[in-house]
Amino acid sequence: MTSVSDEFVLQWMEAAIWRRQHIGPKHLQAPGPSHEQLLRLFHSAAAAPDHDQLRPWRFIVMGTDSRETLAQAFADALLERDAKASPEQLADARTKAYRGPCLILAVADLRNPNPAVPDAEKILSLGCAVQNLLLCAQAQGFATGLTSGKALSSRAFRNAFGLLQGEQAVCFISVGTPAKQRPHKPRPDPADFVTWL
Ligand SMILES: Cc1cc2nc3c(=O)[nH]c(=O)nc-3n(C[C@H](O)[C@H](O)[C@H](O)COP(=O)(O)O)c2cc1C
Repeated sequence: MTSVSDEFVLQWMEAAIWRRQHIGPKHLQAPGPSHEQLLRLFHSAAAAPDHDQLRPWRFIVMGTDSRETLAQAFADALLERDAKASPEQLADARTKAYRGPCLILAVADLRNPNPAVPDAEKILSLGCAVQNLLLCAQAQGFATGLTSGKALSSRAFRNAFGLLQGEQAVCFISVGTPAKQRPHKPRPDPADFVTWL
């Protein structure tokens, strides 16, 4: 039987889950989370399911001083893909590094092959950690967005942020104050993705 307090927690959780929506970094402005708020987000991430306690992921917070390094990495990554990229394209790539007041890189750690914990489980654990973080940021009153792109797997980017062999940058998490709201997307119906046997 569900108690009154369980029902309250359930309704609160459902509300948090349903209210979360992707807001891209271009539409996130200051303020972002404080250092203390960020630490709370990472404590929530740490509660992700984690087979054999490998913690197969880590996060890199892109502070203000690192944005120039990021801008250079985006430009270098573009040149790696297209040596003939125009100055406008390079400037555009650089601009992306400065978007959003808080930018966090989510990195999967696929080192240490472990037959008991295949890579899919490690990536799934990172996904759970990211979702914990997103929902808690939402509960703190912020909006969030996930972004990725070809640059993340480039040599330039990996070198700039010291990614180790076997580590994979999966996405950026942006956290901030939404400059605009978007209509909520309809969600898939369980009938479309659940098989009842
Ligand atoms: C790992 C990951 C990376 C993503 N990268 C991008 C991206 O680069 N650009 C983008 O517009 N959406 C990206 N998305 C999708 C958005 O985060 C978002 O989930 C999608 O637009 C649906 O919006 P919603 O979350 O509000 O339902 C990514 C999602 C995931 C899980």
